[in-house]
Order: sequence, then C-alpha cells, then structure tokens
Amino acid sequence: MKTTLKLGVLGSGAGSNMQSIVDAIDRGELDAEIRLVLSDVKDAYILERAARHGIPARWIDCSPWKTRLDTTGEEEAIRLLREAGCDTVVLAGFMRIVKPRLLAAFPMRVLNIHPALLPAFPGIESWRQALDYGCKVAGVTVHFVDAGTDSGPIIVQKSVPVMEDDTPETLHARIQVQEHVAFPEALRLLSEGRLKVEGRRVRIAPPQA
Ligand code: GRF
Repeated sequence: MKTTLKLGVLGSGAGSNMQSIVDAIDRGELDAEIRLVLSDVKDAYILERAARHGIPARWIDCSPWKTRLDTTGEEEAIRLLREAGCDTVVLAGFMRIVKPRLLAAFPMRVLNIHPALLPAFPGIESWRQALDYGCKVAGVTVHFVDAGTDSGPIIVQKSVPVMEDDTPETLHARIQVQEHVAFPEALRLLSEGRLKVEGRRVRIAPPQA
C-alpha cells in the first residue's frame, strides 16, 4: 500500500543525508514529510539545516557515552517522535547504537545508512577500513535496523570504486554522493509499499502501474 511517510530523522553531524531526503521530497520523487529532526549533538549542523527548512529540530540529552542511546535519551526520543506523529525513523549519520525499546516502538520502521557494503566493515569510519583493507570496491548500504550493529536486512546497496590515489577523505566524499541517492531510493520503495521482509532478505516488488 502506498503511504506518505512521516519521518523522524536522527543525526549527529552535517545532515547531508537529511538534505538529500528533503531534496527528493521537493523534487516530487519521494512521498514523505519530515516531521522532526533530533540530534544528540547540540551544535550539529543537521539541526540548523532542518530549521532553515522549517522542520522542527531539537537536541536530545543522551548518555555521556558517545556511542549509546541511554534509556532516558531513548524514552525522550520515542516520546518526541510519537508526539510529532512519526511512523518511520531514519538514522542519518546518527552515531549512537539504538536500543530495543526504540525498535519496538517503530517495528521494522527504523532505517539506517552505513557507508560500506555490509556485512563488510560495520562500525565507524568504514570507508577508512575499506581503504586500509585494500578493497577495490567500497560502497553504501541502507538497511532496516535490528538489535545488532549494522546487521539488519538490506534494502539498497550502491558500489563505489576505490581509486589509486584515494585518501579516506576522497573515498568518503565519493561514497556520500551514493548515500544521497540510496537513502531517498530506499525510502521511496518503503513509501510505495514495495518492500517485503523475508528473514534476512528484503524482496522488492515491481512498481505498481
Ligand atoms: C555518513 O557518511 C553516514 O553514512 C555516516 O555518517 C555520515 C553522516 O553524514 N554514518 P551526514 O550527517 O548525513 O552528512
């Protein structure tokens, strides 16, 4: 069934992925609205970007541990996302591991973008991991979030060639170009009701006429 996605976006950084979603909506390529943007980083540029687009955006106080969403932060996030009427949660460069309570609040409706071809190189700075490993191909994955780290069923992947003169920065920049294609594409498939999860596999139905 086709639906207009009501998105809540969680991010910790510049928010270029959120921008790609805003742009896809504006171009009429994605049937969605961003209801709320939350960040665990007070001065993250994603909050400013959201405000510039008139999207409600706010900082949430998370745990002092940089990589986890503690229970208080998680409950606050769930409350705010529900209040805003969100039905789908987008982790767009959110640098904390979300916990089962948030996943249970939005079952199979939490999506993450990871800058690698999973299951290779989960975790942080995966573009650097790919380069250090000597990969000739790197990439990006959009997946449903499950209780593991970067381990949920895969929706969309894009490959990115590794160039001879790549540095971590140049490779990451090239990966980000594909991130900005992959995230709106995955969300469009979701909004068009074309995703069916069968165990680890996400089946993509053909577009409806
Ligand atoms: C992206 O590379 C994303 O894959 C990673 O963090 C970065 C966030 O970028 N997890 P932005 O904040 O969307 O610009």
